[in-house]
Amino acid sequence: MFVLAAIGSAVGLGNIWKFPYLAGQHGGGAFVLIYLVSVAVIGVPIMIAEILIGRRGRGSPINSLRTLAVEEHRSVRWAWLGGMGVVTGFLILSYYSVIGGWTVAYVLRSAAGTFEEASSDAVAAAFNAFVDSPTELALWHTVFTVMTMFVVARGVRGGLERAARYMVPALFVILLLLVGYAAASGSFADGFAFLFALDFARVSGAAVLAALGQAFFSLSLGMGAIMAYGAYLPREVSIARSAVQVAVADTLVALLAALAIFPIIFANGLDPSVQSVALAFIALPLAFGHMPGGTVFGTLFFVLLVFAAWTSAISIIEPAVAHMVERWEMSRRRASLLAGAGVWLLGLGTVLSFNRWSEYTWFGRTFFELIDFATSNVMLPLGGLLIALYAGWVMRREASAGELALSPAGYATWRGVIRYVTPFAMLLVLLQASGVLRLG
Ligand code: PHE
Repeated sequence: MFVLAAIGSAVGLGNIWKFPYLAGQHGGGAFVLIYLVSVAVIGVPIMIAEILIGRRGRGSPINSLRTLAVEEHRSVRWAWLGGMGVVTGFLILSYYSVIGGWTVAYVLRSAAGTFEEASSDAVAAAFNAFVDSPTELALWHTVFTVMTMFVVARGVRGGLERAARYMVPALFVILLLLVGYAAASGSFADGFAFLFALDFARVSGAAVLAALGQAFFSLSLGMGAIMAYGAYLPREVSIARSAVQVAVADTLVALLAALAIFPIIFANGLDPSVQSVALAFIALPLAFGHMPGGTVFGTLFFVLLVFAAWTSAISIIEPAVAHMVERWEMSRRRASLLAGAGVWLLGLGTVLSFNRWSEYTWFGRTFFELIDFATSNVMLPLGGLLIALYAGWVMRREASAGELALSPAGYATWRGVIRYVTPFAMLLVLLQASGVLRLG
């Protein structure tokens, strides 16, 4: 159940919408390689740390961090790390819900047969007209926020966690089908080469920063979402094995999505780097529009994507709602209503950033890009740095060793990485993000 719930949190828009377009923007192969290394070397050790803290603290992230800090006679201010996660989740959901709304809208569009035999120009034009309309985006953003907060208010996470049991495998099967279609599209080799051919000239500081931020985002790390779920993990289950399972499943879904999308992009003569956030919303409808039974499969696919986004959205805001309930002793319903209202309001900024405000930029970024950058590239890595310091330096060896129950060599590796490698890498990343360091 834990692994399923964590996969439900990890697999979402990050895998199918974000990963492919980031890979497109950052030149493909180099980005993908840095991403895979980040998942293995930084993502998995931090996921282990988050589950470890959650399971030992047995509470919301803020409470777990406080409990364990007290246990080690350290400052209770470590609880602020949980507070930062609450804020980060709030910010992420504000735009996640806007994109989640796109997926809901695309269920209806596919079902209506809008994409049948449509040309790439027509599909792109339909997307552009869609994001050009603030009212339409606001409408679907509202629908998605209400869906999310409705489930959070009832606290029926169990039902959705169980949904992950069918949803993730079903998503997998349709993705495989799409990859099969992409393979037959004539440009599979181009797509494959774009994703996996290594061109070190394209490794830039910006690509490293984007890949690492994406690894955190996609694995739901750095803000306490996985920590919150860790509190429910039974003692006898191996933390490290669970972390590896979640990371592998999440990475496979992202790679399959990219393998489905890029060949279609190339087969239609589109440029992957300019499609940006529209990439998945152009490539996938195009593929469905031209395959037998595409209307049915396309609709089913977007339904699954809605579920994937939904289970992630719930985990993004759960730390905030749990905290409001604890801290202000309000009912779950009230807390969800308040959090939802805040998320909705802030999300309007993202809605407008795609149309009315598309010309307004702060630090060269639109409102949406700014929130995305601040969360994925600054706040999640900063959270990761502090979580690593906490697990590696605040918690005693006996505490973490007992909880992890690894072989001596396995434990020594994890501890070495979490104490030295992760903090150092995170520091470089944060310096790069702040502009102090320029790696090209
Ligand atoms: N991992 C989710 C995705 O890829 C997003 C997420 C981020 C979920 C942070 C929880 C916490 O879509």
